[in-house]
Amino acid sequence: MKGLVLSGGSGTRLRPITHTSAKQLVPVANRPVLFYGLESIAEAGITEVGIVVGETAAEIREAVGDGSRFGLDVTYIEQEKPLGLAHGVLLAREFLGDDDFTMYLGDNFIVDGIKPFVDEFRESRPDAQILLTRVMDPRAFGVAELGSDGQVVGLQEKPEFPKSDLALVGVYFFTPAIHEAVRRLKPSGRGELEITDAIQSLIDDGRTIGSAEITGYWKDTGNVSDMLEVNRQVLEGVEPLMEGSVDEASEIIGRVTVGRGTVVRNCRIIGPAVIGADCELTDTYIGPFTSVADGCRIVSSEIEFSIVLGEASVEGVDRVQSSLIGRRATVSGTRRVPNSNRLVLGDHSSVHIQV
Ligand code: TTP
Repeated sequence: MKGLVLSGGSGTRLRPITHTSAKQLVPVANRPVLFYGLESIAEAGITEVGIVVGETAAEIREAVGDGSRFGLDVTYIEQEKPLGLAHGVLLAREFLGDDDFTMYLGDNFIVDGIKPFVDEFRESRPDAQILLTRVMDPRAFGVAELGSDGQVVGLQEKPEFPKSDLALVGVYFFTPAIHEAVRRLKPSGRGELEITDAIQSLIDDGRTIGSAEITGYWKDTGNVSDMLEVNRQVLEGVEPLMEGSVDEASEIIGRVTVGRGTVVRNCRIIGPAVIGADCELTDTYIGPFTSVADGCRIVSSEIEFSIVLGEASVEGVDRVQSSLIGRRATVSGTRRVPNSNRLVLGDHSSVHIQV
């Protein structure tokens, strides 16, 4: 069995971060979200993995390399434009050959991995198998309708009137039967080759589509609030580790990791939180569920429930909360009259100012 990881796409929902970097490399507890997926594929006993890459190919290649660090043998598959998930399968035809494969969306996060699902698929081997999870509002998802035997009898894409509360998770299992279905596809209303259409056409052909329900934790990290939520979930399991230097005036409470070369002066850090290497933290409060990447400088500020990317600087800001701060971004507070905000924001930035 092979793996096909989709790591291209345009990442519009995570702009402006995705103007300059791949959304699959946004860190969760200071490690790219994609790495968790690659690890779970390796853990399931799959070693040959194709990674579909788009505009951010160079960055993904640099981060993942040949995959040996994960125990994987990685082949890169270039996708010129994000023409849909099924387009990724079409491009990977040669790589996949006649093997079964799991398709894993590179921005998806499954806390307990996928091994039990891979094992189940290998054992029962329906023509395809999808993973489902119960959601409060299925209208934003692909939705599956199941027959009495648990087989999938129909799929709806972002339906106005969902037939169930079972949403499709971004991990799929396919036999080579999918290739014929993908070849027949026409672009959807949004101009993409939809994997849900391909699966629906397998259903229409009378093929068996199995399903398994994820009861553990799953998130698509496509937007900022989901990203923060996944970060929170991963930090729940963090073990304390002190590799930096912390002065006597500082207080570290709960599960906190501080990386090598980081200097903490007169700070209060309440875990769970991870602070990367070579950071400078002075007169600052870091609250629970915060990840600070390497090389950040945070002075006279308060940050909580946030992700700060590498080499960012925050100075003199009373409270930063529920925020995603990009690489080398600078945030600074000033007390000047008249009260005003001075902003230099990238395209598609979003800022919420307290009024
Ligand atoms: P999506 O999150 O559905 O699409 P997107 O990356 O274009 O994001 P947005 O909706 O914010 O614009 O994609 C799921 C995963 O699949 C993600 O890791 C990107 C990847 N992908 C491809 O590799 N090729 C594609 O053609 C598409 C549509 C997605």
